[in-house]
Amino acid sequence: MDKIVIEGGLPLRGTVKISGAKNAALPILAATLLSRGTHHLKNIPSLRDVNTIQKIMGRLGVSFESKGKELVVDTSNVVHHEAPYELVKTMRASILLLGPLVAGYGRAKISLPGGCAIGARPINLHLKALAQMGVDMYLDQGYVNARARRLRGADIFFDIPTVTGTENIMMAAALAKGTTVLRNAAKEPEVQDLAIFLRKMGAQIEGDGTDTITIQGAEELRPADHDIIPDRIEAGTFLIASAMTRGDVRIENCRPEHMTALLEKVESAGAKIQISRGAIHVMGPEKVQSVDIKTLPYPGFPTDLQAQFMAFMCIADGWSMIRETIFENRFIHVSELRRMGADIEINSNQALVRGKNKLLAAPVMATDLRASASLILAGLVAQGGLTQVHRIYHLDRGYERLEEKFRALGAKIWREKE
Ligand code: EPZ
Repeated sequence: MDKIVIEGGLPLRGTVKISGAKNAALPILAATLLSRGTHHLKNIPSLRDVNTIQKIMGRLGVSFESKGKELVVDTSNVVHHEAPYELVKTMRASILLLGPLVAGYGRAKISLPGGCAIGARPINLHLKALAQMGVDMYLDQGYVNARARRLRGADIFFDIPTVTGTENIMMAAALAKGTTVLRNAAKEPEVQDLAIFLRKMGAQIEGDGTDTITIQGAEELRPADHDIIPDRIEAGTFLIASAMTRGDVRIENCRPEHMTALLEKVESAGAKIQISRGAIHVMGPEKVQSVDIKTLPYPGFPTDLQAQFMAFMCIADGWSMIRETIFENRFIHVSELRRMGADIEINSNQALVRGKNKLLAAPVMATDLRASASLILAGLVAQGGLTQVHRIYHLDRGYERLEEKFRALGAKIWREKE
């Protein structure tokens, strides 16, 4: 296993280019199963999670060929319909294969994803919606077995605006007979990017980006080409890191319009921000002001940036209340930040961060993808030696060469074998 070592205290300076969005690439790769033929996808990030879904799709009969920054996906010979446990347990977003497989092939056998560090991660809303569309499902040995002749359109209400739930059902509805309406749908930019790809495949979708999405099912769809949107969570991670280190950084290949909630909070913390087309210039403040945040579905403050923002507030002047409303266990990074001298008090889904003038270098343990990023950010400002972040495989699931990008901005950070 690898670890990342950081000697903190240096301001980040320079320009960083953001990679393609993990949470757009995963559903769009799954959506290629809705048609047979060759798709050309650009800006696919090279991440562990993307590799995992390609491995699973390879088992189904899909072939992949990398051509420079383009990934060619050939779905002409899909002959299997099972996503095995040993792969699904490493990447729960594999559930995104259920909708396209059962809609495109009338059958699917997907291992139940199981929980993860941040929560139980149930998929009841996905299954309830598919049942409404005429899919017969039963659980056996931890697998969802799904069968359907042809899905039929339905009027579906999500109790919670589930992101992958909205994506799964949008894909299933694209080939269903009749009209499907998704109410209380997720509005994330990644949901919208999937809708754009599906329309390129010939799907008739309206309302993506709002809480009501209407899909007219098609008889068949065709392969398409697409350029994946930039990763707003990676961009947000660099925005916070620059503000934390009194940095002066230009973040390129990003979509500031997808980051409004975070931009407002980082400005309230004292950073100077200039927005231009596809880029953000951020200058960190001498003194960080404490700011309260509450995670919410898009366009609210993203839960995937909560841990990173908490690291930022650990060195703020004052107290910050951080409320996590999306996942039931997304404060695992707190105990590791405390090892670095952070003063944080947890009460249910609220964390009170008493800002201090410094964090202390220490060996810490990554526990999930975004917690890893939070510990790296803390290491960038920690004093008194080297911070070592262990079990960094969590980080590689969702960030492309993160330590190299930070090093190019002047940080003293490197990767070592455990
Ligand atoms: C997506 O997960 C993202 N993953 C997550 O990013 C992100 O944190 C999350 O959305 C929230 O924005 C991908 O897009 C691959 P949800 P998802 O369904 O779809 C409950 C990262 O770090 N729920 O929107 O699994 C659920 O328990 C990852 O990149 C049900 O109860 O999240 C949670 O409390 C982490 N039943 C809430 O809804 C269901 O059937 C939101 O979950 C589905 C969800």
